[in-house]
Amino acid sequence: MLPAALPIRYSLSDVSLGDWIGLRRHFGLQTPDPRPFMGEAEVRMIRGHLRPGDRMLEWGCGGSTLEFSTHVARYCSIEHDARWHGRIRAAIDARGLTNVSLLLVPPDLPLAGVPNYARAPAERYAQFRSYIDAVGRFGDVTFDRVLIDGRSRPECAAAALPWLAPDAVVFIHDFFNPKYDIGPYHTLVLRDYELIDAVREGQTLAVFRPRD
Ligand SMILES: C[S@@+](CC[C@H](N)C(=O)[O-])C[C@H]1O[C@@H](n2cnc3c(N)ncnc32)[C@H](O)[C@@H]1O
Repeated sequence: MLPAALPIRYSLSDVSLGDWIGLRRHFGLQTPDPRPFMGEAEVRMIRGHLRPGDRMLEWGCGGSTLEFSTHVARYCSIEHDARWHGRIRAAIDARGLTNVSLLLVPPDLPLAGVPNYARAPAERYAQFRSYIDAVGRFGDVTFDRVLIDGRSRPECAAAALPWLAPDAVVFIHDFFNPKYDIGPYHTLVLRDYELIDAVREGQTLAVFRPRD
């Protein structure tokens, strides 16, 4: 017989997130690790530029971290969101990816209000100064490949410049996506970088080399 205190009818909404995760684990239904949050053409283009000895930097971790870190020698990633960082950290550990360094660098100012990509460059930098400058926290390394797929993307592209190896390639995801304020955004990036490859369909991807 059911105890009197329990509700008569159950629905999924009666089950807390903790119970739900416990039930899934109990029945061997693990939440799958995330895939890169990008289209297959974009993933293929990035993979095509990776070499086994590369040191790669990333702003905005995710399925991309799990996928691309297996194609390079060292993978350094910077994330601002604590929950997302925790989820990807757990997946990295579960897979035994020992070449990945993942930093959690929260925003310096609260995120509420205007989305970061719609802010003026100085405001974007003030909000994410520590995150942008975290490129300098991986020791005395330069990066062969850089994936920019997080917050403050033009400012991250500028901050990466002193840390690029001589033949470096920089990927900016969503670069041609009209959701972003792409006019001023493009001007800032194209001041320092020249476009060498692109996926213009789907979520879009731009591939750059730094200008001489
Ligand atoms: C567009 S996602 C890209 C993440 C990663 N580069 C990839 O392709 O998998 C950019 C940011 O969204 C945030 N985020 C939070 N929850 C997320 C989720 N469920 N899926 C993807 N990104 C998430 C994270 O802060 C992450 O850095």
